[in-house]
Amino acid sequence: MENKGRDLLIGIDLGTSRTSIMTDRSLKTMIDSVVGYPKDLIGVKLLGATHVVGSEALERHYLNHYFPLEDGVIKETGDRDQEVAKELIRHVVSLADPQPGDRVCGIVGVPARASAFNKEVLLELAREVMDVAMVISEPFMVAYGQDVLLNSIVIDIGAGTVDLCALKGQVPDEEDQVTLLKAGNFVDDLLMESIQMRYPNVQINKRIARAIKEQHAFVGSTSDKVMVTMRENGKPVTVDVTEELELACNAIVPDIVEQIKHLVAGFDPEDQETVLNNIILAGGGSRIANLGTVIRDALTEYGTVSVSNVDDPDYAGCLGGLKLASDLPPDYWDHVGEMVTS
Ligand SMILES: Nc1ncnc2c1ncn2[C@@H]1O[C@H](COP(=O)(O)OP(=O)(O)OP(=O)(O)O)[C@@H](O)[C@H]1O
Ligand SMILES: [Mg+2]
Repeated sequence: MENKGRDLLIGIDLGTSRTSIMTDRSLKTMIDSVVGYPKDLIGVKLLGATHVVGSEALERHYLNHYFPLEDGVIKETGDRDQEVAKELIRHVVSLADPQPGDRVCGIVGVPARASAFNKEVLLELAREVMDVAMVISEPFMVAYGQDVLLNSIVIDIGAGTVDLCALKGQVPDEEDQVTLLKAGNFVDDLLMESIQMRYPNVQINKRIARAIKEQHAFVGSTSDKVMVTMRENGKPVTVDVTEELELACNAIVPDIVEQIKHLVAGFDPEDQETVLNNIILAGGGSRIANLGTVIRDALTEYGTVSVSNVDDPDYAGCLGGLKLASDLPPDYWDHVGEMVTS
């Protein structure tokens, strides 16, 4: 086989809502982190398969949908989640299009707060589906990709969690990482409730709230009015949701600022100024307009502060995974696996 011995390197960011993947053969794509299973034999017949992964699953309402990482981690009881997570990883690997003879080598980023048990389970699943695998925490993976492994703070604003990680030139340990549960989904819920309260006759659901947020999200002082078209008793109406959106998006800021302060204090005093000038925002939620400025302004007592955004928030995680996979020969992964898994 002419391919024999070739490595296929993959970076995978296993998110609560979406999983992104990059390979050293130029694949770069993202899928919804969901697997759909038929409810009964009729479903099997309709689907023509035992399960389906990604948005195709969501489009089929007659399936049961499982988001294996819904809580950011795999539940410790029952192996359904594990089965689903394995299908998800298997599907992602198939997208990478391994050729006969390839050695499939993947680095998988998992939520920072996944327990040692979870990381171990995910590593096992990954090893069942790939030839060589390593599991690392997501914020560390982002930091690796951005080359900010020393004296920085990475803040990954996702759907289920905001993960903050202090980078001290070593694999982050427990006290260097903080997970906040007020993240994108929390903003959606708050936005939905407050719009409903102000406009009781307007129909709103989570999907609509999320779409409004993704189009108009901002923090800090209001710029333009946010007017959106919704439905009231079936008829289209245009409503002003500026205040509601402001309230919902700003709700995640205080906790983030508080945790930055906490993490900064954990660095050596000589390094704190550098750290404050090296705060990096990643994850889908980093697209909220003005977020960096508002965080910086909340830290004025700390001297000069600089907050920047990663270029490509959807792929910053898997980019880091792929970079690490390219830098570190897969033959070594087994040895460093435990060290890298914090
Ligand atoms: N333009 C935008 N403005 C505000 N929020 C956005 C925007 N685009 C995406 N988001 C939000 O980002 C979140 C998804 O981010 P991401 O893909 O990083 O999450 P995830 O990795 O699946 O979740 P987690 O990191 O919690 O496991 C969602 O809440 C989504 O609504
Ligand atoms: Mg994420």
